[in-house]
Amino acid sequence: MFKDFFRVVLRPFRMACGALLRYLHVRRLFRYDRLRFMKNSGTFGTGKKREYVQKEKIIMGYHVLEKGLTMPSCRLGFGREAVLDLMHAISEYENDFGKSDGQVDHASRCVKAYLHLHEDEQYDMAADAGFWNAVKDFCDARSGAPAQMMKFDRDDFFGQVNSPFEVFAKSRHTVRHFAGTVSDETIEKAVDLARTSPSACNRQYVRVHCLRDHKLHEKIYKLQNGNRGFASAADKLLIVTSDLNGLRWHEERNDVFTNAGIFIMNLMYALHYNRLGCCVLNWSVSPDSDKRLRGIIPLKESETVVALIAVGHLPDDFLVAASPRKPLQEVLVWH
Ligand SMILES: Cc1cc2nc3c(=O)[nH]c(=O)nc-3n(C[C@H](O)[C@H](O)[C@H](O)COP(=O)(O)O)c2cc1C
Repeated sequence: MFKDFFRVVLRPFRMACGALLRYLHVRRLFRYDRLRFMKNSGTFGTGKKREYVQKEKIIMGYHVLEKGLTMPSCRLGFGREAVLDLMHAISEYENDFGKSDGQVDHASRCVKAYLHLHEDEQYDMAADAGFWNAVKDFCDARSGAPAQMMKFDRDDFFGQVNSPFEVFAKSRHTVRHFAGTVSDETIEKAVDLARTSPSACNRQYVRVHCLRDHKLHEKIYKLQNGNRGFASAADKLLIVTSDLNGLRWHEERNDVFTNAGIFIMNLMYALHYNRLGCCVLNWSVSPDSDKRLRGIIPLKESETVVALIAVGHLPDDFLVAASPRKPLQEVLVWH
């Protein structure tokens, strides 16, 4: 009698209670993340962290310019609105905070590099005189040389692959210039080396999907917002995922990104070591785009896409963005 009662009533009841508690717990965790996000994320305007947010905006702005200035086929006249936004953001920063900052200075120097390129190429500025006068006034008001994009030939770029780690790490740069076909074996070598990445409890739930078919690349690039003008020339497209099935407790909810992030960095070094160029492409997309990707390539439902990586051989010579780093004292916080 009690056995039946346990089987028919008590056990399902206990299971339902367990499921409800788990559901509430997960809800609480994601609520915590959501509230923290809404309170602190730079996507919701400025709030208390105004200076920090303004600086991030400037970094994003100069990054657009650096990308444009180093593109395989740099289209003169590019980025008009981006330049206006950047000049505005820099002026605002200078007025509001009245101090110099390495990243903000670099941003001004990128505007100068933009102006110099157009002057050197004798671009027709008269057609948009208001804009170009504003750029010239902005540059004249600021000291500092135009930012230099880094020019490499392929052998120079890979010249340090056998050097001590400190030198090797500094020789890696994101490239957006690609040429030629990458063999499957080279991709295998790089991913094999990247398997040395550590992972939580050694669960190793990161996967790398390598797409050879350029028609698939194009479909996927349409869903992503940072590949225009260069990624199509990359022979291989990697999709890095983490399998949610690998998580063991709810608090690990963000570990899919930590584990994949560590793997991606290791993979970038492994690609560089194998003399391949690469550019990580964000997968910061809408749920709709994420679902559409799953219609293009077969991913397990449990796989979370973390990032894409365009991979290819490099042309004989090419330009690379300087992408200067924040100073150590800003990054390393002693307690
Ligand atoms: C998570 C992540 C997402 C990125 N997404 C893009 C992207 O969509 N398009 C792009 O051109 N570069 C992208 N990048 C490359 C960065 O712009 C680049 O790493 C950064 O400017 C620093 O330059 P470096 O890699 O040469 O040191 C991404 C990098 C990371 C780590």
